[in-house]
Amino acid sequence: MVDRVRTSRRGLLGLGTAAVAGTAAATLSACDSKGSPRSAPAATVAFHGSRQAGIVTAQQDRLAFAAYDLTVSGSPAENRDALRELLKTWTAAARAMTEGKPVPGDNDIGAAPPADTGEAFGTPPANLTITIGFGPSLFDKRFGLADKRPAALADLPHFARDNLDATRSGGDIAIQACSDDPMVAFHAIRNLARLGRGTVVMRWSQLGFGRAASTSDKQETPRNLFGFKDGTRNIHGDPKQLDNWVWVGKETDQKWMRNGSYLVARRIQMRIEAWDRDFLTDQQNVFGRHKYTGAPLSGGNEFDAPNFHARAADGSAAIPPTSHMALAAHENNGGVRILRRAYNYTDGVIASSGELDAGLFFLCYQRDPRTQFVALQHKLSRSDALNEYIQHVGSGLYACPPGVTSDSGYWGEDLLA
Ligand code: HEM
Repeated sequence: MVDRVRTSRRGLLGLGTAAVAGTAAATLSACDSKGSPRSAPAATVAFHGSRQAGIVTAQQDRLAFAAYDLTVSGSPAENRDALRELLKTWTAAARAMTEGKPVPGDNDIGAAPPADTGEAFGTPPANLTITIGFGPSLFDKRFGLADKRPAALADLPHFARDNLDATRSGGDIAIQACSDDPMVAFHAIRNLARLGRGTVVMRWSQLGFGRAASTSDKQETPRNLFGFKDGTRNIHGDPKQLDNWVWVGKETDQKWMRNGSYLVARRIQMRIEAWDRDFLTDQQNVFGRHKYTGAPLSGGNEFDAPNFHARAADGSAAIPPTSHMALAAHENNGGVRILRRAYNYTDGVIASSGELDAGLFFLCYQRDPRTQFVALQHKLSRSDALNEYIQHVGSGLYACPPGVTSDSGYWGEDLLA
């Protein structure tokens, strides 16, 4: 009898599905008799670690993001127990899925629905990472966790021009699933929702179809939907910068957040039709960079440092002071940086205007949102030349706990201890 929990997703296929016999034969040869991979396939990212994967991991091509609300109605102690059970179940499922295995449980009892929904069978994990974060609402009266709420998880303030849709904002728990395969990423958030049925409902979700940042210097800089290279001056894995700006350290008022990070998610609609009518020089002045090479308008190549004092031939600033780059650059913000991990999205057409509903699903990680995202966004929301073409329509803030280090560990263990 095959051990269902440890059966690899590809091994399971090899045992059961004739239609993919070719693939199965190829993949089965990489598995032992229990269907577990003999050695980790190249395209997997380790789930275990003192810090969660999916934050500094070289950014994958696809995103499936979901925010969930808990539906519990018991006493705080009962609700905490339900939350703990959920997090244990989700951790086990996430561990399995990132290893390319099906969701643990029975998958071949004819009289019962399979534990795993099945759409990713036969598909390698393609660098799947599943990252969890806890929203401010998790620390309300329901769970008796108010005294565990970190000061840095302060509700985001209202920013100038915000036009937020409550049905695309907030949530008790957020899951960011990133993979180079869209089916694998979607499979992860769908299966977590299914496993949590009775305890959680999905509040909102967002798919991202192409990365719009790079988190490693080994990656090409991708482009956003305005056609500009995005991620040029992101944090690209430098450990010192990550410690300074991304990972929570000893300074936190909540020990359970050490080695964690804070995620800010913003659904930012981009007025593509209006942008496409703007002339090239203006587009470049909006960002402060050349469209095709990505080089700063002060000269040089893509990765050369911008010179904010450089002058154009007519004596004006080569990089306009209201350009997105000038306003967001660490040189002009007391050194402050964030780790951007954004994705392009498109969701059909906006009914009221007939324009494309498309934009940037802006995700960024940091050590303290109050002094990082909030400080930057206050400035950008008031003065950024980009504001003519964008609108923030969704928002979320989540405390991402440290990673899970063993098979018996689970997400948020220290929070619920
Ligand atoms: C639709 C919205 C946005 C678009 C299209 C966009 C696009 C860009 C582009 C093209 C760059 C220059 C290349 C690079 O260094 O990556 C850039 C840089 C940057 N952006 Fe954005 N961005 C958006 C929103 C935001 C928001 C909301 C924030 C933070 C509050 C932000 C923070 C930054 C930072 C910190 C930089 C690096 C600046 C530097 O050091 O040179 N961006 N963005």
